[in-house]
Amino acid sequence: MIRIGVLASGSGSNLQALLDATREGRIDGSVAVVIANVPEARALERARVAGVPAELLPSKGVADRAAYDREIVARLQARRVDLVCLAGWMRLVTPSFLESFGPGDATHGCPRVMNVHPALLPSFPGLHAQRQALEYGVRFSGCTVHFVDAGTDTGPIIVQAAVPVLPGDDEASLSARILVEEHRVYPLAVQWFAEGRLRVTGRHVTLRDAGAPMLDGVSNPSGDR
Ligand code: GRF
Repeated sequence: MIRIGVLASGSGSNLQALLDATREGRIDGSVAVVIANVPEARALERARVAGVPAELLPSKGVADRAAYDREIVARLQARRVDLVCLAGWMRLVTPSFLESFGPGDATHGCPRVMNVHPALLPSFPGLHAQRQALEYGVRFSGCTVHFVDAGTDTGPIIVQAAVPVLPGDDEASLSARILVEEHRVYPLAVQWFAEGRLRVTGRHVTLRDAGAPMLDGVSNPSGDR
């Protein structure tokens, strides 16, 4: 059983997916604490409803990022967190945060911080990934669950899921289609970590006993808009 700490800034639908998966036994673990950096984050309410400790540490106007992250690390450590899940956390984490949650004795080289990003990395890192994908004109986008390193959305990739970009899509419709996949694969990645099945070698993440890849040969040509 692992203890998960979730950092969230927004609506918290990925937090909800993790809470649901722990409750339903799809993740061998529990969410030990949820920390938000903005008071209006719905994630806080979702945590309270689930009976999980919810903490607010406002970041607005805080100039000292290192001190802020030290406080976050202290709170996570106080809850004996094994894995930190960024779930719509709208801040870059500092190197010393990452060091505090670097690979552990039994993590097979896996760092202990994960993130979910709404694009098929390395395409469209950073903010407004769905808008970037629409503007570029890609036929597929999707989501990526990855370990976190010091770059922006650059860490080793654990799992990706693709969705088509459909004629008439706007940012809202594409985001909604991608979120369905985020909610599916983020809990999977966390469970693989909990089971000790992930291994990181350089940039490559391998999953023990992975089974066959789920490939259905979909193609998505650009139709009339
Ligand atoms: C998700 O699209 C996630 O990929 C990105 O921020 C969004 C958070 O959504 N990092 P939610 O707060 O989990 O609903």
